[in-house]
Amino acid sequence: MKRILLIVGGGIAAYKACELVRLCRKAGIGLKVVLTEGGSHFVTPMTLAALSENQVYTTLWDLKDEAEMGHIQLSREADLVVVAPATADLLAKMAAGLADDLATTLLLATDKPVLAAPAMNVRMWEHAATRRNVAQLRADGVTVLEPDEGPMACGEYGPGRLPEPEAILAAIQQALSIVRPELVEGPSSSSDFGQEKSGASTSAARTDGLAGKHILVTAGPTHEPIDPVRYIANRSSGRQGYAIAGALAALGARVTLVSGPVTLPTPPGVTRIDVETAQDMANAVAAALPADAAVMVAAVGDWRAETAPQKLKKGDAPPSLLLSENPDILALLARSPHRPALVVGFAAETEAVIEHATAKRARKGADWIVANDVSGDVMGGPANAVHLVTADGVESWERLPKDEVARRLAARIADALTTPSKG
Ligand code: C5P
Repeated sequence: MKRILLIVGGGIAAYKACELVRLCRKAGIGLKVVLTEGGSHFVTPMTLAALSENQVYTTLWDLKDEAEMGHIQLSREADLVVVAPATADLLAKMAAGLADDLATTLLLATDKPVLAAPAMNVRMWEHAATRRNVAQLRADGVTVLEPDEGPMACGEYGPGRLPEPEAILAAIQQALSIVRPELVEGPSSSSDFGQEKSGASTSAARTDGLAGKHILVTAGPTHEPIDPVRYIANRSSGRQGYAIAGALAALGARVTLVSGPVTLPTPPGVTRIDVETAQDMANAVAAALPADAAVMVAAVGDWRAETAPQKLKKGDAPPSLLLSENPDILALLARSPHRPALVVGFAAETEAVIEHATAKRARKGADWIVANDVSGDVMGGPANAVHLVTADGVESWERLPKDEVARRLAARIADALTTPSKG
């Protein structure tokens, strides 16, 4: 049985930790729970002990515990340490290496992977100090999940809500390399579109899944700044790319999603890296390699402007923008020495869709191009009609919800990666 050490920090979201404990037990994961002093003001050790079916630890100074179970041992006998909710204070202490209570001492003493699910007020999450701490923790190898966005207990709105317990469980299972059978079966099999309408999602993909594979996905638009307050952007919502990242994770892949600015929640089990410009995206993609496959869905800005250091002022004549070309991330990746075995590009076209996509496949060096006609409401809309252009020819799919396009494509990718001749 896989075991985790769950550290419950002090925030209103601590109540969701109770549900997380219940879901972990149901999924066959053993837990020991450490409750911080702050956490004990929101949930009781008794609740967590009953749900985890184990003793709950609260203090470093409990000599009985130290005799029976030293804090070093407690930090090392689990397969994974999970901090949920990870408050701004806990993240700051973790980043600084402070150890002034049981939770932080365990976090400093552990030799196991650490996963943190943050929860805090939106301003605290966006504060430069928290940004710095999260960046430091990620650089140190800690998996810091993106918080959810929405209304908060404090009455404000924005990112900072604890991800739903289901999403944290998915991230835990991914970190423990447990493939979720119910997700391999497809996340919404009860919906209208859950039934596979063709053989696209093959039984081979379902059986083999994508466990052990690392897949890189880019999604969303890029913002190319003109001056400190203005930027050039496009209408990409990121929905198709996010759906693909989620569908790949649901098949057991380790997914790195490099995302331009969007307002979507991170799909369960996906590691998201937020970027703004094409150049940032190119750097994040390079840093995320190696990967077994890359699916480049982002609508990358073709040009960047020379950025004015100060806000441009309205004058007599409008300013002219000096544009230069952005790196073509897909083409660079497809020709790099670290090329993933399967490189998939997207082509948004408004006319001669298949012809342009076929030419693009050759020009960019991609294995597959997923082509779509964006002359209608595709950008930002819920559905997509795509053509899959591969070395074997063109396959046209009927108009489908973006989630279903994602599931079919993920199944095809699983098929290709587990039957290499299909790449
Ligand atoms: O050339 P075009 O923008 O039509 O190509 C679209 C494909 O190339 C998409 O897969 C997109 O993510 C990728 N792309 C890229 N870097 C760019 C431009 C496009 O990765 N600078």
